[in-house]
Amino acid sequence: MCGIVGYIGHREAYPIIIKGLERLEYRGYDSAGVAIFDGEETQLCKTKGKVSELKRKVEETINAKGTLGIGHTRWATHGVPNDVNSHPHFSNSGDLVIIHNGIIENYASIKKELIKRGYTFYSDTDTEVLVNLIEEIQKIEGVKLGKAVQVALNEVVGAYAIAVFDKKKPDELVVAKLGSPLAIGVGESEYFVASDASPFIEYTSNAIYLEDEEMAVIRLGRDVKVRKIKGDALVDFNTQELKLNLEQIEKNGYDHFMLKEIYEQPSAILDTFRGRLLSNEGIIKMSGVEDNLQKFLNAKRIIIVACGTSWHAGLVAEYLFEDLARIPVEVEYASEFRYRNPVISSEDVVIAISQSGETADTLAAIKLAKSFGAFVFGVCNVVGSSIARETDAGAYTHAGPEIGVASTKAFTTQITVLTLMALRLANAKGTMSTSEYKKFLFDLESIPNRVEEVLKSDSIVTEISEKYKGVSNCLYLGRNYNFPVALEGALKLKEISYIHAEGYPAAEMKHGPIALIDENMPVVVIATKKGHYDKIVSNIQEIKSRNGRIIAIVTKGDTTIKEMADYVVEVPETSESLTPLITTIPLQLLSYHIAVMRGCNVDQPRNLAKSVTVE
Ligand code: F6R
Repeated sequence: MCGIVGYIGHREAYPIIIKGLERLEYRGYDSAGVAIFDGEETQLCKTKGKVSELKRKVEETINAKGTLGIGHTRWATHGVPNDVNSHPHFSNSGDLVIIHNGIIENYASIKKELIKRGYTFYSDTDTEVLVNLIEEIQKIEGVKLGKAVQVALNEVVGAYAIAVFDKKKPDELVVAKLGSPLAIGVGESEYFVASDASPFIEYTSNAIYLEDEEMAVIRLGRDVKVRKIKGDALVDFNTQELKLNLEQIEKNGYDHFMLKEIYEQPSAILDTFRGRLLSNEGIIKMSGVEDNLQKFLNAKRIIIVACGTSWHAGLVAEYLFEDLARIPVEVEYASEFRYRNPVISSEDVVIAISQSGETADTLAAIKLAKSFGAFVFGVCNVVGSSIARETDAGAYTHAGPEIGVASTKAFTTQITVLTLMALRLANAKGTMSTSEYKKFLFDLESIPNRVEEVLKSDSIVTEISEKYKGVSNCLYLGRNYNFPVALEGALKLKEISYIHAEGYPAAEMKHGPIALIDENMPVVVIATKKGHYDKIVSNIQEIKSRNGRIIAIVTKGDTTIKEMADYVVEVPETSESLTPLITTIPLQLLSYHIAVMRGCNVDQPRNLAKSVTVE
């Protein structure tokens, strides 16, 4: 939550920062601001609203010229989103200016003390407290900015990625990280700072990723100095070569990132199993699994921890691991797991699933599981993310950057990784016959083509969207492997179109939700041929007899449901365990089109942020 960008070097800072903020807007978009040092003063401009608002205001109000600057796009934690609470924040003297992604939990007591010492606060934010604390330490201890930041951070409790500069020392930018991501782009006599590498990808492919509890003093004409926040020793760091390219982070002609990412799924899934799925040889190669095979095979159970869409991928994995590899699985909301004193032992394997690799609850669940001695395996998309680093081993999904706030290709690629894992374990345990296993590998390999085929249903899904765009409620039903898909379909609709939607196992409908069904209630039913078909046909009849409107996702060639449903979307046939990878697609398209037709901001739905680094 919140995106930060900074620049120090020989170019104009503002264009780099504002473009960087646009790329990071997925992280939060309540308000935005920039501070540019013009050679004498720091020019500050901030506003409630999106980066586009900020751009307009900068043009009208300040002269944003200078080669040192910082910028911020905010997802509000402390203080409502308004101009004053937006970042950057000045210290009382006006010398220091800071941007912050995270939360300072003990800000209230520090603020009280600073007020006693004569400080005035203009915003409700925890960040303004931090910048004044740094200033007070500089004053009292007579230390340089880097040292003052270090002392201040030893006094605060919370999470942060910060960048701060002092207009009296404009050749220096100080950054620090705990719990929120921070990358430093290293160019020729210039440095970039950002929440991820996207703001500086066209300038440099060299980046330093700070670890938690590290800070860096970036001084022009000198090397970057990284040290621990606790203790004074300098830290050796690696400068990594980035694999990201510009094309991956642009819309490439699509109206929205979400649509681009929906359409990228065939290639994203292919990238996920590239080099891992060798169907002709009947081999699955995943080094993270292979190196720890015995741990998986000896596991008494697998516990999956995740949030949101990633949790839904975890539910699909529960079916996969139990069905194919006969390993008992529990799927936990990371936020509940971390606080409910769970029973975990070193015989458990914990799988943490996260697109961003930064979700605070998932990260905390991992730390808890590790403290009990469990082996923790990460399934992440963002390379080098906190979760990827915190886990004992893992497998990346290789979906490429997902920028639309609503997760699409992250979900299907997570399921792909988890399917590969389940198959590998099934093969090692001998819970599948060789012919069954081989057929599965070929079916999995054909999934990108099948997804491509389902994407052709876009026109019928658009027609359905037109019909139902005005509804206030919607139910999603599925059984077995497609129950999590129903949950995911409902989440997608509610988060981007603001229509209330619920997902249920189809058979649960008669235990309550059936009371909601009338002629105004669309019910989306995932009813593929192999997924307990007859049972779901009965469920559809129950809806029909109560006048509910039925939108059914059916296997190509289905005639029975076609006669009962108001609309059907056909998907190609595949193994039942692989159906989530294709039945999800029309549900993503449905929520996308309905949201667009309702005039919603698809890529940046209200109140949401792409990576949730607060609990
Ligand atoms: C929904 C969505 C969220 C995320 C959740 C977990 O479309 O994107 O529900 O799935 O916030 O995020 P990650 O996977 O980054 O841990």
